Amino acid sequence: MNPENAVLTSVLDAKSGTFQPDPLRVLKLLAANLNYQPTPVLELGNVSGFSGKLLIKDERRRFGMTSFKAAGGIYAVFTLIAKQWHSQTGEWLRPEDYRTSRIRRFAASITFVCASAGNHGLAVTRGAKLTGAKARIHLSETVPESFAEKLRSDGAEVVRSGKNYEESMALSLVDADTTGGILVADASWGDYLEPPALVMEGYTILADELQHGFEKSGQWPARVYLQAGVGGLAAAIAFMIRKRWSVQPEVVLVEPDSAPCLKESIVSGQLLRVEGPVSNMGRLDCKVPSSLAMQVLSSTVDRFMLVSDEQAADAMVDLGRLGVATTPSGAAGYAALFADAKETEDRGHALIFVTEAAI
Ligand SMILES: Cc1ncc(COP(=O)(O)O)c(C=O)c1O
Repeated sequence: MNPENAVLTSVLDAKSGTFQPDPLRVLKLLAANLNYQPTPVLELGNVSGFSGKLLIKDERRRFGMTSFKAAGGIYAVFTLIAKQWHSQTGEWLRPEDYRTSRIRRFAASITFVCASAGNHGLAVTRGAKLTGAKARIHLSETVPESFAEKLRSDGAEVVRSGKNYEESMALSLVDADTTGGILVADASWGDYLEPPALVMEGYTILADELQHGFEKSGQWPARVYLQAGVGGLAAAIAFMIRKRWSVQPEVVLVEPDSAPCLKESIVSGQLLRVEGPVSNMGRLDCKVPSSLAMQVLSSTVDRFMLVSDEQAADAMVDLGRLGVATTPSGAAGYAALFADAKETEDRGHALIFVTEAAI
């Protein structure tokens, strides 16, 4: 088969090892296997403090799930199955091959393992369900039981692991090492790069959808606020903005003030673990960044902002009043925009991401 139609192509540049995504191959693969629709951009015109429009990329229903994470974890699972198949048979898979019984039988022999603050686990579980594979998800004690229940009802085995995200991540690694499961983490470290790079590549469809919308409307934002946990989402979007958008915005990276792992790491030029209390922005409460995300963000971000639990909680209430119900994690970009609006003069349209539905 012509490798051009194949699912398996490298997301990392062969020479430099840098992130080299292609949103088109993500779209081809996902559209062949799921009911694909771009998520909407909401426009709010008269929000106090802004004369420009507030544009909201609404990720609360991506692929009928409850966050953008669906695009990353599902895509990574599909692609990793193609990679396994290729390494065992020498055959390249095409996007439509996943429905065949021989590929479903093959996938049934694979268990995907990951740690999650909730949404990544749901995405990996859905990828496993769609392909016939198995999923085992490690959740720390800070992750709400509602996520555990959703995971189980979608077919995952749930393991309660550790006191925080980093501990659950370490335990998922031991799990994959000892059981032969495939670790599909959303953060990278050392030479563990490909699965997290695939997860990030999945997220690039958000920036692609936005780009096409702005090309039609001409309503390019002057500022983009990207909230970060380990940084995968922010890195995927910032990469695409710098590479493909014809009108360049200011890119602002937003983290909880109790988990500024990307800011601290990028400013000091080395990957750092930060200390801090547990944040109400649970999905952003990561104390160690993804090395690949850090690398991408260090050359694409203009400014860092930290938001407090109180600001995130207020932002969630405000967004709820505007008809956009979400969580503190989902509202973090709005919290940063709001804090900015009080301090700086208005500079055109602003884009934020509401990254998940209210739990
Ligand atoms: C709702 C939500 N928003 C933002 C993020 C941050 O994404 P990342 O960890 O890739 O930085 C996550 C991560 O799980 C999330 O679930």
